[in-house]
Amino acid sequence: MSLQARSLMVVIGCEILAIVSPGSDILPRARQETLTLTKQPLTSRKFVVQGERDYTVAEPKSQPQNVGRDRGEWLYAAHSRPLGLAGMISTIMGRKSTKDTPKNAKSQAAFTAALKVLAGGVNSPVRAFGAIGGVPRFIAKAKGALLTDLDGNDYIDYVCSWGPLILGHVDERVAAAASKVLGKGWSYGAPTEAETRLAERITEDFPSIERLRFVSSGTEAAMSAVRLARGFTGRDIVVKCEGCYHGHVDALLVKAGSGLATFGTPSSAGVPAAMAANTLVVPYNDIAAARQAFETHGPQIAAFLVEPVAGNMGCVPPMDGYLAALRALCDEAGALLIFDEVITGYRLALGGAQEVFSVRPDLTCLGKIIGGGMPVGAYGGRADIMERLSPVGPVYQAGTLSGNPLAMAAGLATLEALHEPGTYEKLDALAVRLADGLRDAAAAAGIPAFVTRVGSMCTAFFQLGPVTDYVTAARSDTKVYAQFVHAMLERGVYLPPSQFETFFVSTAHTQEQIDQTLAAAAEALGILKQA
Ligand SMILES: Cc1ncc(COP(=O)(O)O)c(C=O)c1O
Repeated sequence: MSLQARSLMVVIGCEILAIVSPGSDILPRARQETLTLTKQPLTSRKFVVQGERDYTVAEPKSQPQNVGRDRGEWLYAAHSRPLGLAGMISTIMGRKSTKDTPKNAKSQAAFTAALKVLAGGVNSPVRAFGAIGGVPRFIAKAKGALLTDLDGNDYIDYVCSWGPLILGHVDERVAAAASKVLGKGWSYGAPTEAETRLAERITEDFPSIERLRFVSSGTEAAMSAVRLARGFTGRDIVVKCEGCYHGHVDALLVKAGSGLATFGTPSSAGVPAAMAANTLVVPYNDIAAARQAFETHGPQIAAFLVEPVAGNMGCVPPMDGYLAALRALCDEAGALLIFDEVITGYRLALGGAQEVFSVRPDLTCLGKIIGGGMPVGAYGGRADIMERLSPVGPVYQAGTLSGNPLAMAAGLATLEALHEPGTYEKLDALAVRLADGLRDAAAAAGIPAFVTRVGSMCTAFFQLGPVTDYVTAARSDTKVYAQFVHAMLERGVYLPPSQFETFFVSTAHTQEQIDQTLAAAAEALGILKQA
């Protein structure tokens, strides 16, 4: 759509607040969308604004005003009342100050620079805010439960680096342990006692893990566990659940075909169909589908791989008896049960989801928390299975930085801190307050929301629910979620930039911060309802 030449666009930090034509009402859609300005050379006088639809503002007749302020404030006006108008629009958008500094100008500039040299401007897709639109916040520093972006905005953080930072940011115990390592060398490519110490800690906490191997990411842990299961059983098929994520492993980037228990098709370009051909996909929480998979393919199934509490379709708990049923099916078929506890390990309890739900897997994948925020992963389990790994056994797996001292030290300090009495009670209490509060706030605003919680993981699905698997999770109103996230960012709360991710609470969060979050949510949901 082309606006008239004399239209006026108010842009703060490249986040378009509104586009107006002099003398006319604010375009109704502009209020509801977060629009991003594709920066054109200022001299070109042509601006492309992307939102749900593209707006092109061609050839404004007058020079933009206030352009060139070094804060990056871009306030384009075709007449002489820019601040008055900005004030009016600020009020409409629920902002307090008419003289708002551009709240995201530096993040926008940083993103623009990143886009020139990094694929998609980020190093992991969800960080680009693609699911919710708008400017990804570039982070300058963090402490406790607070993130601070380049523009100096503080946010109460419920992403916590996607789970690892269960103690919050820059926990002093972890920082001290990591600093010690820095003075002595942080990678030798030779064994250290720190690896044994961390492995001892984990094998004590997870009775099912008799031996383990450290790697550098959760992806590597899942990929290696699958290879080991195949090597151990001499079988090829792996069963996974639709909507569970196990890293970007070719054979696991597979979506369901049609039918109850079907071989999947690649969910990413670049994954050959042959890589998906040995992956069976079943719905999460569906015992009948799992049983059918085993009835049809039992003797060929190497392993059933599952997130015991799903965290990658939002937080979805296992139904009563589901995990125990998977254990029984694997036992009958001689297949291995692999729990991907990359998120849930040390998140739900010292012994992970397997402790909470009293089901013992053969192999477990870990990551995130066990490295205290440093790159790490691990997989482990029954000694007779783990002994099949090279150098003792025939299944090959290796890593240059595996078990590196920095990750080992940060991980051990984190796990020791989690052993302090009362830790999980505190985490649970905070998360209950958050989940209950979100539920109440949505109910008060009259916005359908189904809030799930397991331990310190929770998700507000914008729908009536229930959410039990990928298909039901996908019924959520992702547009409302996106609006909610942006309204919360405006109010100093950083939520996952996708409906299908989990909120994490850390021990660094305080009750006051949870209450502040809930006050922000009540306000944000109230405004969404009116919109
Ligand atoms: C359950 C689960 N498994 C595996 C992974 C992959 O871990 P990483 O991103 O460290 O490769 C993730 C990442 O979020 C995850 O949530």
